[in-house]
Amino acid sequence: MANGRVVQTADRTIGSRQLAALLPAEVLARPGYRALADAVRTLILDGRIALHVRLPAERELAEAVGASRATVTGAYDLLRGSGYVRSRRGSGTWTELPDGHRPVGAHAIVGGIGGRADGEPGIDLAIAAMGAPEGSLAEAFAWAAPRLPQLARSPGYHPFGLPDLRTAVAERFSRRGLPTRPEQILLTSGAQQAFSLVVSLLCRAGDRIVTENPTYANALDALRHARLRTGSIAVSDAGWDMEIAESTLRQTVPRMAYVIPDFHNPTGALMPPEQRLRLLAVTRATGTWLVVDETIADIALDVPAPAPLASLAPRGGADHVITIGSLSKTHWGGLRVGWVRATAKMIAELTAVRVSADMTGSVLDQLVALPLMDDMDRALPARLAQLRIQREALVQALQRHTPEWSWRVPPGGLSLWVDLGEAVSSALAERAAAAGVHIGRGARFGVDPGTFEHRLRIPYTLSADRLDEGVRRLAGAFHDGIPLPSAVDRPHWVA
Ligand SMILES: Cc1ncc(COP(=O)(O)O)c(C=O)c1O
Repeated sequence: MANGRVVQTADRTIGSRQLAALLPAEVLARPGYRALADAVRTLILDGRIALHVRLPAERELAEAVGASRATVTGAYDLLRGSGYVRSRRGSGTWTELPDGHRPVGAHAIVGGIGGRADGEPGIDLAIAAMGAPEGSLAEAFAWAAPRLPQLARSPGYHPFGLPDLRTAVAERFSRRGLPTRPEQILLTSGAQQAFSLVVSLLCRAGDRIVTENPTYANALDALRHARLRTGSIAVSDAGWDMEIAESTLRQTVPRMAYVIPDFHNPTGALMPPEQRLRLLAVTRATGTWLVVDETIADIALDVPAPAPLASLAPRGGADHVITIGSLSKTHWGGLRVGWVRATAKMIAELTAVRVSADMTGSVLDQLVALPLMDDMDRALPARLAQLRIQREALVQALQRHTPEWSWRVPPGGLSLWVDLGEAVSSALAERAAAAGVHIGRGARFGVDPGTFEHRLRIPYTLSADRLDEGVRRLAGAFHDGIPLPSAVDRPHWVA
Protein backbone atom coordinates (compact mmCIF):
# COMPACT_ATOMS: atom_id res chain seq x y z
CA MET A 1 0.00 0.00 0.00
CA ALA A 2 1.29 3.44 -0.83
CA ASN A 3 0.35 6.72 0.91
CA GLY A 4 3.22 6.57 3.36
CA ARG A 5 1.65 4.14 5.83
CA VAL A 6 3.27 0.97 7.07
CA VAL A 7 1.52 -1.75 5.16
CA GLN A 8 -0.33 -4.25 7.29
CA THR A 9 -1.40 -7.70 6.36
CA ALA A 10 -4.24 -9.72 7.78
CA ASP A 11 -2.33 -12.96 7.70
CA ARG A 12 -0.93 -12.96 11.20
CA THR A 13 -2.65 -14.73 14.02
CA ILE A 14 -2.37 -14.78 17.77
CA GLY A 15 -2.98 -18.11 19.48
CA SER A 16 -5.40 -18.52 22.38
CA ARG A 17 -2.59 -19.40 24.79
CA GLN A 18 -0.54 -16.40 23.63
CA LEU A 19 -3.48 -14.06 24.08
CA ALA A 20 -4.28 -15.51 27.50
CA ALA A 21 -0.66 -14.91 28.55
CA LEU A 22 -1.05 -11.21 27.77
CA LEU A 23 -4.19 -10.75 29.89
CA PRO A 24 -3.89 -9.24 33.37
CA ALA A 25 -4.21 -11.68 36.28
CA GLU A 26 -7.42 -10.06 37.54
CA VAL A 27 -9.12 -10.68 34.19
CA LEU A 28 -8.02 -14.32 34.22
CA ALA A 29 -9.23 -14.70 37.81
CA ARG A 30 -12.72 -13.42 36.94
CA PRO A 31 -13.11 -13.40 33.18
CA GLY A 32 -16.25 -11.32 32.68
CA TYR A 33 -17.02 -10.25 29.13
CA ARG A 34 -16.58 -6.51 29.79
CA ALA A 35 -13.26 -7.00 31.55
CA LEU A 36 -12.07 -9.27 28.76
CA ALA A 37 -13.09 -6.77 26.07
CA ASP A 38 -11.44 -3.94 27.99
CA ALA A 39 -8.20 -5.88 28.36
CA VAL A 40 -8.05 -6.75 24.64
CA ARG A 41 -8.77 -3.13 23.73
CA THR A 42 -5.89 -1.98 25.96
CA LEU A 43 -3.54 -4.50 24.33
CA ILE A 44 -4.48 -3.17 20.89
CA LEU A 45 -4.02 0.47 21.88
CA ASP A 46 -0.71 -0.35 23.54
CA GLY A 47 0.62 -2.02 20.40
CA ARG A 48 0.97 -5.36 22.18
CA ILE A 49 -1.42 -6.91 19.70
CA ALA A 50 -0.81 -5.33 16.30
CA LEU A 51 -3.62 -4.27 13.99
CA HIS A 52 -4.97 -6.74 11.44
CA VAL A 53 -4.03 -9.73 13.55
CA ARG A 54 -6.49 -12.60 13.64
CA LEU A 55 -7.79 -13.33 17.15
CA PRO A 56 -8.37 -16.89 18.35
CA ALA A 57 -11.69 -18.58 17.71
CA GLU A 58 -14.17 -17.96 20.55
CA ARG A 59 -14.22 -21.56 21.73
CA GLU A 60 -10.41 -21.76 21.90
CA LEU A 61 -10.06 -18.50 23.80
CA ALA A 62 -12.82 -19.54 26.20
CA GLU A 63 -10.88 -22.70 26.97
CA ALA A 64 -7.57 -20.86 27.37
CA VAL A 65 -8.93 -18.27 29.81
CA GLY A 66 -11.26 -20.65 31.66
CA ALA A 67 -14.40 -18.75 30.69
CA SER A 68 -17.66 -19.78 29.09
CA ARG A 69 -18.01 -19.46 25.35
CA ALA A 70 -20.78 -16.89 25.97
CA THR A 71 -18.29 -14.67 27.84
CA VAL A 72 -15.91 -14.58 24.89
CA THR A 73 -18.78 -14.09 22.45
CA GLY A 74 -19.93 -11.15 24.59
CA ALA A 75 -16.43 -9.67 24.67
CA TYR A 76 -15.98 -10.00 20.90
CA ASP A 77 -19.42 -8.45 20.38
CA LEU A 78 -18.42 -5.46 22.50
CA LEU A 79 -15.13 -5.08 20.67
CA ARG A 80 -16.91 -5.34 17.34
CA GLY A 81 -19.55 -2.81 18.39
CA SER A 82 -16.88 -0.30 19.40
CA GLY A 83 -14.76 -0.85 16.30
CA TYR A 84 -11.79 -2.65 17.83
CA VAL A 85 -12.30 -5.88 15.89
CA ARG A 86 -13.93 -6.85 12.67
CA SER A 87 -15.28 -10.31 11.83
CA ARG A 88 -16.07 -11.98 8.57
CA ARG A 89 -18.25 -15.05 8.60
CA GLY A 90 -16.24 -18.18 8.17
CA SER A 91 -12.85 -16.48 8.22
CA GLY A 92 -12.37 -15.05 11.69
CA THR A 93 -12.01 -11.91 13.75
CA TRP A 94 -9.26 -9.30 13.28
CA THR A 95 -7.99 -6.43 15.35
CA GLU A 96 -8.77 -2.90 14.11
CA LEU A 97 -9.02 0.63 15.37
CA PRO A 98 -12.42 2.34 15.37
CA ASP A 99 -13.17 4.53 12.34
CA GLY A 100 -13.31 7.55 14.60
CA HIS A 101 -9.75 7.21 15.83
CA ARG A 102 -7.48 10.01 14.86
CA PRO A 103 -4.19 8.75 13.56
CA VAL A 104 -1.69 11.55 13.46
CA GLY A 105 0.56 12.19 10.49
CA ALA A 106 4.21 11.26 10.69
CA HIS A 107 6.35 14.25 11.43
CA ALA A 108 10.05 13.62 11.78
CA ILE A 109 11.54 14.38 15.17
CA VAL A 110 13.74 17.01 13.71
CA GLY A 111 13.68 20.72 13.35
CA GLY A 112 13.96 23.68 15.60
CA ILE A 113 11.80 24.58 18.47
CA GLY A 114 10.00 27.84 18.68
CA GLY A 115 9.86 29.74 21.94
CA ARG A 116 6.72 30.87 23.70
CA ALA A 117 4.68 33.84 22.54
CA ASP A 118 6.00 35.79 25.55
CA GLY A 119 9.59 35.36 24.35
CA GLU A 120 10.61 32.63 26.84
CA PRO A 121 13.06 30.26 25.07
CA GLY A 122 11.78 26.92 23.86
CA ILE A 123 12.67 23.58 25.43
CA ASP A 124 13.43 20.69 23.10
CA LEU A 125 12.35 17.43 24.68
CA ALA A 126 12.04 15.70 21.30
CA ILE A 127 15.70 14.89 20.83
CA ALA A 128 17.19 12.13 22.99
CA ALA A 129 20.81 13.19 22.59
CA MET A 130 23.24 15.46 24.40
CA GLY A 131 25.69 18.14 23.42
CA ALA A 132 29.33 17.08 22.97
CA PRO A 133 31.27 16.42 26.18
CA GLU A 134 32.94 19.61 27.37
CA GLY A 135 36.35 20.18 25.81
CA SER A 136 36.63 16.84 24.04
CA LEU A 137 35.76 18.08 20.54
CA ALA A 138 38.23 20.95 20.73
CA GLU A 139 40.97 18.54 21.85
CA ALA A 140 40.09 16.13 19.06
CA PHE A 141 40.27 18.94 16.49
CA ALA A 142 43.65 20.02 17.86
CA TRP A 143 44.87 16.44 17.43
CA ALA A 144 43.42 16.22 13.91
CA ALA A 145 44.65 19.57 12.55
CA PRO A 146 48.34 18.68 11.97
CA ARG A 147 47.33 15.33 10.43
CA LEU A 148 44.98 16.84 7.88
CA PRO A 149 47.51 18.17 5.34
CA GLN A 150 48.85 14.70 4.61
CA LEU A 151 45.35 13.29 4.09
CA ALA A 152 44.42 16.33 2.02
CA ARG A 153 47.01 15.39 -0.58
CA SER A 154 44.75 12.55 -1.72
CA PRO A 155 41.36 13.23 -3.36
CA GLY A 156 39.66 12.41 -0.03
CA TYR A 157 37.23 9.75 -1.24
CA HIS A 158 37.10 6.79 1.15
CA PRO A 159 33.78 5.05 0.46
CA PHE A 160 34.47 2.33 3.05
CA GLY A 161 35.64 4.94 5.55
CA LEU A 162 39.00 6.25 6.72
CA PRO A 163 41.20 3.12 7.12
CA ASP A 164 42.46 4.00 10.62
CA LEU A 165 38.95 4.60 11.89
CA ARG A 166 37.69 1.33 10.38
CA THR A 167 40.46 -0.40 12.29
CA ALA A 168 39.59 1.43 15.51
CA VAL A 169 35.90 0.50 15.23
CA ALA A 170 36.80 -3.14 14.43
CA GLU A 171 39.15 -3.29 17.42
CA ARG A 172 36.49 -1.95 19.73
CA PHE A 173 34.05 -4.67 18.57
CA SER A 174 36.79 -7.26 19.17
CA ARG A 175 37.49 -5.91 22.67
CA ARG A 176 33.77 -6.10 23.45
CA GLY A 177 33.70 -9.80 22.59
CA LEU A 178 32.92 -9.87 18.87
CA PRO A 179 36.10 -10.53 16.86
CA THR A 180 35.97 -8.19 13.86
CA ARG A 181 38.31 -7.36 10.97
CA PRO A 182 38.43 -3.85 9.45
CA GLU A 183 36.97 -5.28 6.19
CA GLN A 184 33.82 -6.00 8.18
CA ILE A 185 33.25 -2.32 8.91
CA LEU A 186 31.66 0.35 6.74
CA LEU A 187 31.79 3.86 8.16
CA THR A 188 28.63 5.84 7.53
CA SER A 189 27.15 9.21 8.19
CA GLY A 190 25.54 8.15 11.49
CA ALA A 191 23.51 5.09 12.38
CA GLN A 192 20.53 6.44 10.46
CA GLN A 193 22.42 6.29 7.17
CA ALA A 194 23.70 2.86 8.16
CA PHE A 195 20.11 1.67 8.56
CA SER A 196 18.92 3.28 5.32
CA LEU A 197 21.75 1.65 3.37
CA VAL A 198 20.94 -1.76 4.82
CA VAL A 199 17.25 -1.33 3.94
CA SER A 200 18.14 -0.18 0.39
CA LEU A 201 20.41 -3.15 -0.15
CA LEU A 202 18.25 -5.87 1.36
CA CYS A 203 14.64 -4.90 0.84
CA ARG A 204 12.36 -4.24 -2.10
CA ALA A 205 8.93 -2.56 -1.93
CA GLY A 206 6.38 -5.02 -0.59
CA ASP A 207 8.88 -7.18 1.31
CA ARG A 208 7.90 -8.28 4.78
CA ILE A 209 9.98 -7.04 7.65
CA VAL A 210 9.53 -7.04 11.41
CA THR A 211 10.32 -4.30 13.92
CA GLU A 212 9.72 -3.86 17.58
CA ASN A 213 6.59 -1.96 18.53
CA PRO A 214 7.14 0.75 19.64
CA THR A 215 10.44 1.50 17.96
CA TYR A 216 12.76 4.31 16.91
CA ALA A 217 10.61 6.76 14.95
CA ASN A 218 13.14 7.64 12.24
CA ALA A 219 13.74 3.96 11.49
CA LEU A 220 9.98 3.53 11.07
CA ASP A 221 9.99 6.43 8.63
CA ALA A 222 12.79 4.83 6.61
CA LEU A 223 10.70 1.63 6.40
CA ARG A 224 7.62 3.60 5.35
CA HIS A 225 9.57 5.31 2.59
CA ALA A 226 10.79 1.93 1.38
CA ARG A 227 7.16 0.70 1.35
CA LEU A 228 7.78 -2.45 3.29
CA ARG A 229 5.15 -4.62 4.93
CA THR A 230 5.85 -4.27 8.61
CA GLY A 231 4.99 -6.82 11.26
CA SER A 232 5.75 -6.17 14.90
CA ILE A 233 7.26 -7.54 18.07
CA ALA A 234 5.70 -5.95 21.14
CA VAL A 235 8.00 -4.32 23.66
CA SER A 236 6.41 -3.10 26.88
CA ASP A 237 7.70 -2.06 30.28
CA ALA A 238 7.95 -5.81 30.92
CA GLY A 239 10.29 -6.26 27.93
CA TRP A 240 9.99 -8.31 24.77
CA ASP A 241 7.15 -10.70 24.08
CA MET A 242 9.53 -13.31 22.74
CA GLU A 243 7.02 -16.11 22.36
CA ILE A 244 4.83 -14.00 20.09
CA ALA A 245 7.95 -12.65 18.38
CA GLU A 246 9.01 -16.18 17.52
CA SER A 247 5.61 -17.11 16.18
CA THR A 248 5.38 -13.85 14.17
CA LEU A 249 8.79 -14.58 12.64
CA ARG A 250 7.86 -18.17 11.85
CA GLN A 251 4.47 -17.21 10.43
CA THR A 252 5.64 -14.34 8.25
CA VAL A 253 9.25 -15.38 7.45
CA PRO A 254 10.29 -11.74 7.00
CA ARG A 255 13.22 -10.56 4.93
CA MET A 256 14.61 -8.49 7.78
CA ALA A 257 14.05 -7.93 11.50
CA TYR A 258 15.17 -4.66 13.11
CA VAL A 259 15.76 -4.58 16.87
CA ILE A 260 17.24 -2.27 19.51
CA PRO A 261 18.12 -4.72 22.29
CA ASP A 262 20.18 -2.33 24.42
CA PHE A 263 18.16 0.33 26.25
CA HIS A 264 15.55 0.20 23.54
CA ASN A 265 14.30 3.49 22.15
CA PRO A 266 11.74 4.54 23.43
CA THR A 267 11.08 2.12 26.34
CA GLY A 268 14.66 1.81 27.69
CA ALA A 269 14.21 -1.97 28.03
CA LEU A 270 17.27 -4.24 27.98
CA MET A 271 16.86 -7.61 26.27
CA PRO A 272 17.92 -10.51 28.53
CA PRO A 273 20.62 -12.88 27.18
CA GLU A 274 18.23 -15.81 26.89
CA GLN A 275 15.94 -13.78 24.58
CA ARG A 276 18.95 -12.69 22.50
CA LEU A 277 19.79 -16.33 21.91
CA ARG A 278 16.20 -17.11 20.92
CA LEU A 279 16.16 -14.18 18.50
CA LEU A 280 19.44 -15.27 16.92
CA ALA A 281 18.15 -18.83 16.54
CA VAL A 282 14.74 -18.02 15.11
CA THR A 283 16.04 -15.46 12.58
CA ARG A 284 18.68 -17.93 11.48
CA ALA A 285 16.01 -20.62 11.07
CA THR A 286 13.72 -18.34 9.02
CA GLY A 287 16.57 -16.95 6.90
CA THR A 288 15.82 -13.43 8.15
CA TRP A 289 18.50 -10.72 8.23
CA LEU A 290 18.75 -9.55 11.83
CA VAL A 291 19.62 -5.84 11.97
CA VAL A 292 20.74 -4.94 15.48
CA ASP A 293 20.86 -1.25 16.32
CA GLU A 294 23.46 -0.79 19.08
CA THR A 295 23.53 3.01 18.93
CA ILE A 296 22.52 3.24 22.61
CA ALA A 297 24.46 0.21 23.93
CA ASP A 298 27.13 2.27 25.70
CA ILE A 299 24.61 4.38 27.61
CA ALA A 300 24.56 1.74 30.35
CA LEU A 301 23.61 3.55 33.56
CA ASP A 302 22.87 0.82 36.10
CA VAL A 303 24.32 -2.30 34.49
CA PRO A 304 27.54 -3.10 32.60
CA ALA A 305 27.38 -2.25 28.88
CA PRO A 306 26.07 -5.35 27.09
CA ALA A 307 28.31 -7.26 24.69
CA PRO A 308 27.34 -7.01 21.00
CA LEU A 309 24.33 -9.25 20.37
CA ALA A 310 26.12 -11.05 17.53
CA SER A 311 28.82 -12.20 19.97
CA LEU A 312 26.29 -14.61 21.53
CA ALA A 313 25.86 -16.55 18.31
CA PRO A 314 27.52 -19.95 18.09
CA ARG A 315 30.69 -19.96 15.99
CA GLY A 316 29.82 -19.17 12.38
CA GLY A 317 26.20 -18.50 13.32
CA ALA A 318 26.19 -14.72 13.06
CA ASP A 319 26.52 -14.16 9.32
CA HIS A 320 22.89 -13.10 9.16
CA VAL A 321 23.42 -10.43 11.82
CA ILE A 322 24.10 -6.83 10.78
CA THR A 323 25.11 -4.52 13.60
CA ILE A 324 24.83 -0.76 13.38
CA GLY A 325 26.06 1.93 15.74
CA SER A 326 27.45 5.44 15.97
CA LEU A 327 29.19 8.06 18.07
CA SER A 328 26.00 10.14 18.32
CA LYS A 329 25.01 9.12 21.86
CA THR A 330 28.44 8.59 23.38
CA HIS A 331 29.86 11.77 21.83
CA TRP A 332 27.89 14.04 19.54
CA GLY A 333 25.21 13.69 16.86
CA GLY A 334 26.73 16.66 15.04
CA LEU A 335 29.72 14.50 14.25
CA ARG A 336 28.19 12.32 11.58
CA VAL A 337 30.12 9.14 12.31
CA GLY A 338 28.39 5.76 12.41
CA TRP A 339 29.06 2.26 11.16
CA VAL A 340 27.78 -1.07 9.94
CA ARG A 341 29.44 -4.34 11.00
CA ALA A 342 28.65 -7.34 8.82
CA THR A 343 30.45 -9.94 6.71
CA ALA A 344 33.16 -8.50 4.46
CA LYS A 345 31.06 -9.49 1.43
CA MET A 346 28.03 -7.60 2.67
CA ILE A 347 30.17 -4.58 3.55
CA ALA A 348 31.42 -4.48 -0.05
CA GLU A 349 27.82 -4.60 -1.33
CA LEU A 350 26.69 -1.92 1.11
CA THR A 351 29.57 0.29 0.05
CA ALA A 352 28.40 0.14 -3.55
CA VAL A 353 24.99 1.40 -2.37
CA ARG A 354 26.67 4.09 -0.28
CA VAL A 355 28.60 5.39 -3.30
CA SER A 356 25.32 5.85 -5.13
CA ALA A 357 23.95 7.75 -2.13
CA ASP A 358 26.72 10.12 -1.04
CA MET A 359 30.04 8.78 -2.42
CA THR A 360 31.92 8.91 0.86
CA GLY A 361 31.85 10.30 4.37
CA SER A 362 33.54 13.48 5.57
CA VAL A 363 37.27 12.95 6.11
CA LEU A 364 37.31 15.72 8.70
CA ASP A 365 34.60 14.15 10.84
CA GLN A 366 36.29 10.78 10.69
CA LEU A 367 39.68 12.17 11.54
CA VAL A 368 38.23 13.93 14.58
CA ALA A 369 36.46 10.72 15.56
CA LEU A 370 39.75 8.81 15.80
CA PRO A 371 41.01 10.21 19.13
CA LEU A 372 37.44 10.21 20.49
CA MET A 373 37.16 6.51 19.71
CA ASP A 374 40.52 5.76 21.32
CA ASP A 375 39.59 7.71 24.44
CA MET A 376 36.04 6.41 24.73
CA ASP A 377 36.43 4.10 27.71
CA ARG A 378 38.18 6.79 29.73
CA ALA A 379 35.73 9.58 28.83
CA LEU A 380 32.43 7.71 29.03
CA PRO A 381 32.04 7.40 32.85
CA ALA A 382 31.72 11.18 33.28
CA ARG A 383 28.98 11.33 30.64
CA LEU A 384 27.11 8.45 32.23
CA ALA A 385 27.39 10.08 35.67
CA GLN A 386 25.86 13.26 34.24
CA LEU A 387 23.02 11.27 32.66
CA ARG A 388 22.27 9.51 35.98
CA ILE A 389 21.92 12.90 37.67
CA GLN A 390 19.64 14.17 34.90
CA ARG A 391 17.55 10.98 34.95
CA GLU A 392 16.97 11.51 38.68
CA ALA A 393 16.15 15.18 38.05
CA LEU A 394 13.52 14.18 35.48
CA VAL A 395 12.00 11.65 37.87
CA GLN A 396 11.79 14.31 40.57
CA ALA A 397 10.29 16.83 38.16
CA LEU A 398 7.63 14.31 37.15
CA GLN A 399 6.89 13.44 40.78
CA ARG A 400 6.57 17.13 41.58
CA HIS A 401 4.48 18.31 38.62
CA THR A 402 2.62 15.25 37.29
CA PRO A 403 2.45 12.60 40.02
CA GLU A 404 -0.51 10.95 38.29
CA TRP A 405 1.67 9.88 35.34
CA SER A 406 3.64 6.66 35.65
CA TRP A 407 6.98 5.47 34.34
CA ARG A 408 9.61 2.85 34.87
CA VAL A 409 13.22 3.95 35.36
CA PRO A 410 15.23 2.09 32.68
CA PRO A 411 18.71 0.66 33.41
CA GLY A 412 20.20 2.80 30.63
CA GLY A 413 19.42 4.87 27.56
CA LEU A 414 18.34 8.47 27.36
CA SER A 415 14.62 8.75 28.04
CA LEU A 416 11.58 7.74 30.07
CA TRP A 417 8.56 6.22 28.35
CA VAL A 418 5.87 7.92 30.37
CA ASP A 419 2.31 6.62 30.69
CA LEU A 420 -0.18 9.50 30.83
CA GLY A 421 -3.08 7.27 31.82
CA GLU A 422 -5.18 8.74 28.97
CA ALA A 423 -4.88 8.63 25.19
CA VAL A 424 -4.09 12.32 24.86
CA SER A 425 -0.43 12.44 23.92
CA SER A 426 -0.79 14.04 20.47
CA ALA A 427 -3.15 16.70 21.78
CA LEU A 428 -0.82 17.32 24.71
CA ALA A 429 2.21 17.60 22.41
CA GLU A 430 0.35 20.17 20.33
CA ARG A 431 -0.65 22.18 23.37
CA ALA A 432 2.87 21.89 24.78
CA ALA A 433 4.28 23.37 21.56
CA ALA A 434 2.29 26.53 22.24
CA ALA A 435 4.01 26.59 25.65
CA GLY A 436 7.39 26.31 23.92
CA VAL A 437 8.01 22.60 24.56
CA HIS A 438 8.76 20.21 21.70
CA ILE A 439 8.04 16.62 22.71
CA GLY A 440 7.92 13.14 21.13
CA ARG A 441 4.32 11.96 21.40
CA GLY A 442 3.81 8.23 21.76
CA ALA A 443 2.21 7.66 18.37
CA ARG A 444 5.47 8.63 16.62
CA PHE A 445 6.97 5.37 17.88
CA GLY A 446 4.08 3.04 16.99
CA VAL A 447 4.00 0.76 13.95
CA ASP A 448 0.23 1.19 13.70
CA PRO A 449 -1.17 4.72 13.42
CA GLY A 450 -3.26 5.71 16.41
CA THR A 451 -1.51 3.52 18.99
CA PHE A 452 0.61 4.61 21.99
CA GLU A 453 -1.52 7.71 22.35
CA HIS A 454 -1.24 7.43 26.14
CA ARG A 455 2.59 7.64 26.05
CA LEU A 456 5.15 10.42 25.86
CA ARG A 457 8.86 9.90 25.45
CA ILE A 458 10.70 12.33 27.69
CA PRO A 459 14.50 12.35 27.33
CA TYR A 460 16.73 13.27 30.27
CA THR A 461 19.35 14.81 28.02
CA LEU A 462 18.90 18.41 29.19
CA SER A 463 20.19 20.01 32.38
CA ALA A 464 18.19 19.48 35.59
CA ASP A 465 16.69 22.98 35.58
CA ARG A 466 15.64 22.78 31.91
CA LEU A 467 14.05 19.39 32.58
CA ASP A 468 12.14 20.80 35.53
CA GLU A 469 10.95 23.76 33.49
CA GLY A 470 10.00 21.50 30.57
CA VAL A 471 7.94 19.18 32.78
CA ARG A 472 6.37 22.15 34.55
CA ARG A 473 5.18 23.48 31.19
CA LEU A 474 3.95 20.03 30.14
CA ALA A 475 2.03 19.76 33.41
CA GLY A 476 0.55 23.21 32.79
CA ALA A 477 -0.64 22.10 29.36
CA PHE A 478 -2.02 18.84 30.79
CA HIS A 479 -3.88 20.49 33.67
CA ASP A 480 -4.99 23.58 31.85
CA GLY A 481 -8.65 23.13 32.76
CA ILE A 482 -9.85 22.44 29.22
CA PRO A 483 -9.94 18.66 28.70
CA LEU A 484 -7.52 17.35 26.10
CA PRO A 485 -9.30 15.57 23.27
CA SER A 486 -8.62 11.86 23.38
CA ALA A 487 -7.17 10.40 20.18
CA VAL A 488 -9.24 7.28 20.64
CA ASP A 489 -12.87 7.66 21.53
CA ARG A 490 -13.64 5.69 24.65
CA PRO A 491 -16.13 2.97 23.87
CA HIS A 492 -19.49 3.29 25.56
CA TRP A 493 -20.17 -0.25 26.62
CA VAL A 494 -23.84 -0.96 26.52
CA ALA A 495 -25.36 -4.21 27.50
C1 LIG B 1 18.08 3.61 18.24
C2 LIG B 1 18.68 4.69 17.42
N1 LIG B 1 19.21 4.40 16.21
C3 LIG B 1 19.74 5.33 15.43
C4 LIG B 1 19.78 6.66 15.82
C5 LIG B 1 20.37 7.66 14.87
O1 LIG B 1 21.62 7.98 15.25
P1 LIG B 1 22.66 8.76 14.32
O2 LIG B 1 22.69 10.16 14.84
O3 LIG B 1 23.93 8.04 14.55
O4 LIG B 1 22.20 8.68 12.91
C6 LIG B 1 19.26 7.01 17.06
C7 LIG B 1 19.26 8.42 17.49
O5 LIG B 1 18.42 8.84 18.23
C8 LIG B 1 18.70 6.01 17.88
O6 LIG B 1 18.15 6.29 19.07
